[in-house]
Formats: sequence, structure tokens, C-alpha cells
Amino acid sequence: MEIRLVAGAGFCFGVKRAVDIVYEQIQTGKTIYTYGPIVNNEEVVKELTDQGVRVIESRRELERLADRDSPAARREATVIIRAHGVPREVQQYMEQKGWEVIDTTCPFVKRIHRTVEEKSSRGEHILVVGSPEHPEIQGIVGWCNGPVDVLETLEEAEKYVPPEGKKLVVVAQTTFNYNKFQTIVEILKKKGYNVSIVNTICNATEDRQRETREVAANADAMIVIGGKHSSNATKLYEICREVCDNTYFIQTLDDLHLELPKSARLVGITAGASTPNKLIEEVQNYVRINF
Ligand code: F3S
Repeated sequence: MEIRLVAGAGFCFGVKRAVDIVYEQIQTGKTIYTYGPIVNNEEVVKELTDQGVRVIESRRELERLADRDSPAARREATVIIRAHGVPREVQQYMEQKGWEVIDTTCPFVKRIHRTVEEKSSRGEHILVVGSPEHPEIQGIVGWCNGPVDVLETLEEAEKYVPPEGKKLVVVAQTTFNYNKFQTIVEILKKKGYNVSIVNTICNATEDRQRETREVAANADAMIVIGGKHSSNATKLYEICREVCDNTYFIQTLDDLHLELPKSARLVGITAGASTPNKLIEEVQNYVRINF
């Protein structure tokens, strides 16, 4: 039986860069905080917290920390902004309070921040396509200098009416499903609005989604490895389910209860952007040895 690993499975460039920076910062011996978990993967986060890295879970917790620690203690501590980015106001707050701030916002997300900042300053209306609760989207919204809307579904796109007389600038969450984004764009264009589209979907995501679909279409079983809270891993799971009924979504090897028909010839493996290589190799070895 053949096992096929999707070529772009696992850590993308931005996540790898952010995680590497955290490991570098641990070496400084300073108190290290990350604002939110550095990646959407509990295993990776646990490995870092075991080495002393602390996770600030919310804006309120950040404020409590600012009240609790003296200015001198804050100067001795570092807050790392993760690859998703944060709203401008949050970053400014950290800097004002005197922490050393290390920004590992992925350059592709940073590009969106700059785009929306610049275009909204010119009076253009920003529409972000993505999940409103996702930290990346909250970060993007927080870099707009004016009104901004967020929508996620085709139904919302059908109902959407932008403010009259304004040029509409559409950007997307970097991990948004490429085909769905195209459909939303078509819906908006058909309405005849003055729309400027900036395709901000990251190639890493697009490539991983396309390769995943190709492998899943031929696989007897498909294993998707990723954090439960990872939106890009969830999207990979949805893509696989469309073409392969026998799809498993697992966080670690312990979650895998693989059942294969006798006739099975191909098992495909893919993984979200926050899944470390070590975990992918474990799953690959498990399937190789047991089936
Ligand atoms: Fe960056 Fe793309 Fe990863 S935007 S964080 S390289 S998925």
C-alpha cells in the first residue's frame, strides 16, 4: 500500500519563522511572553511553555500584566506577536508599557496591514473576506483607518451592500479557501460595484489546498493532521471530505483509529500550517508499520 504525503504539508514559512524566533528568544534568558499561542497546535505550545514561555491569552490579561509588573520588570520582558499579527492599537499599547516587542507577523499578513491602512486612509472602503473571530482578521481590521466590513459566506456576499459612492477594496484572510474567495468576488462584481480585489490568499495555503485535493481524490483514506482550532487545517479537512469519505481529522497520533478496507491502495496524509514535522513523521511511520 502506498502512503502519499502532500508536498506542502506542515509548517509554512511564516509559522516556522515565528516559532524559530521564539526559540531564539528563549536563549536570551529574559521572560518571554507570546500574545496568544504562537501556533494553533497544542503540542508545540506545550513544548514552549515547558521551556518557560508564557502565553498571554487576551487583551485583558495583557492589561492585568501591565498593572501587576513594575516598569523595570516590563523592560526585562519580551512580548512576541505571532504570525497572525495584532491590531495596531494592541502593538502600540505593548510598546507604550515598555515591553520589548518582537513582531513575528508573517510578511504576507503585514502586507495586508499596509494595504488596508493605506487604502482606508484614502477613503476607500475595506471589505475583509474571512472569519470575523479569527485573530488574523481582528488584526487586519485593527489596521484600517476607517470603516471596514467582514464577511465569510456566500450568503453574506449576496446580501452585502457597501456604502454608496465608495470604492470597495476586498482583501482575504491568508488561509481562506481560494475557490470560495473567487465565488465571493464574482458575486460582488456581478452587483456592479466599483470593486478592487487584492488577492491576499497565501500561496502556501493555496498550494497545500490544491495538492491536498489532488491526493485526496485518489486516496482510499485521507489523514488530516492539525490543531482543532486551526482554521487552515479545518479547511483541509473540508476539502478532503468532499472527495474522500474516509477522511480522519487528528491532532496527534493518539487520535488516529484508522480503519482501512482490504482493497485500500493509497493513504494520503496532509497537515495544517501549524503542524510540526515530527508529528507528520510519526503518523507516516505508524501507517507504514501497521498497514
Ligand atoms: Fe504566512 Fe502564509 Fe503561513 S500567510 S503564516 S506563510 S500560511
